[in-house]
Amino acid sequence: MLQGTDRPPLRALGIETSCDETAAAVVEMDAQGGRIVSNVVLSQVAEHAAFGGVVPELAARAHVTATDGVVAAALDEAGLTLADMDMIAATAGPGLIGGLIVGLMTGKALAKVSGKPLAAVNHLEAHALTARLTDGIDFPYLLLLVSGGHTQIVLVQGVGRYERWGTTIDDALGEAFDKTAKLLGLPYPGGPNVERAALQGDAGRFDFPRPLKGTDRLDFSFSGLKTAVRQAATAIGPLGDGDVADICAAFQAAIVDTLADRVGRALAAFHTRFPGVAAPALVVAGGVAANRAIRATLLDLCGKNGFRFIAPPMELCTDNGAMVAWAGLERLRAGLLDDADAFAFAPRSRWPLDEAAAPMVGSGRRGAKA
Ligand code: KG4
Ligand code: ZN
Repeated sequence: MLQGTDRPPLRALGIETSCDETAAAVVEMDAQGGRIVSNVVLSQVAEHAAFGGVVPELAARAHVTATDGVVAAALDEAGLTLADMDMIAATAGPGLIGGLIVGLMTGKALAKVSGKPLAAVNHLEAHALTARLTDGIDFPYLLLLVSGGHTQIVLVQGVGRYERWGTTIDDALGEAFDKTAKLLGLPYPGGPNVERAALQGDAGRFDFPRPLKGTDRLDFSFSGLKTAVRQAATAIGPLGDGDVADICAAFQAAIVDTLADRVGRALAAFHTRFPGVAAPALVVAGGVAANRAIRATLLDLCGKNGFRFIAPPMELCTDNGAMVAWAGLERLRAGLLDDADAFAFAPRSRWPLDEAAAPMVGSGRRGAKA
């Protein structure tokens, strides 16, 4: 049910509060695609840095303080008011429950007072559909979601139609970066600091494990790697800058190798399942997608396997309100919204995209990153 070209665009206000970003955005959708009208993100990184990870109680309090102002800023930046919106979309899970309650209740209140439809959005669905906003890609495609809370390979077949092909059975990838950084005395958030240190290091000094490499399943495991890093660091004793750089380089090499193995298998499986899709796409999302070594490897892998590599701009890979607004619009267009359901919806800290997939620690869970 695409909008006709002569119809005005549909417009949504999106609210995101599931972890440590308070975010809101206004997004439009028409027959040609999507357009971000405003996008405001207030990060809580500074509040959590001293603790080496996200503290749920602090996050919830920060969302209470910030959400109304961030929503007002998104509308202001767009030069629009609530009355100009066609719908309100708010993240309802998975994530830290305190933040979800704040965001969803704000969304419900705004929808109620304005009489607009409400979408209770799955945060993972919002990540999964972002590439359709930025690049207008068609279904089906593969998604690699690598953030502080998730590590998943997902087949995206349509709005609301997801198959989880792989997930982590222990730590999320961003969490593995953050824990490694903490162990080596590098500041939070660890990912960028590990990447920076790795540039100076010798990856060949340590031979860290590549958990699950070579197995048929597409799952991930990072806790064995974390243990190997800890043992290497302990064996050296007080670490010099050179030691830290070498450990970071070897750690990142193990990650890159593992991702290439898992994702390579997923691309092959996609070709087998959808031989008719001429130019399939691999979409990457989540904060870890900022890592240059990981991006370069995925780009190369896609090139060799006839896939397009789609990495939305960094500010849309990490948490934001635009992806939530867009997911709401996609649901509205697909006829999947039901106001009674949305208003009755209780936030879910655990909410897998693929409800049929076997529950695992890393699937559909989004919690503290440390
Ligand atoms: O998606 P995100 O901003 O927040 C959520 O977890 O939802 O991802 C944050 C994660 C952190 O674990 C951070 O260390 C990691 O992404 N990260 C990176 C890099 N930049 C951020 N990991 C590896 N290399 C990076 N350059
Ligand atoms: Zn996220």
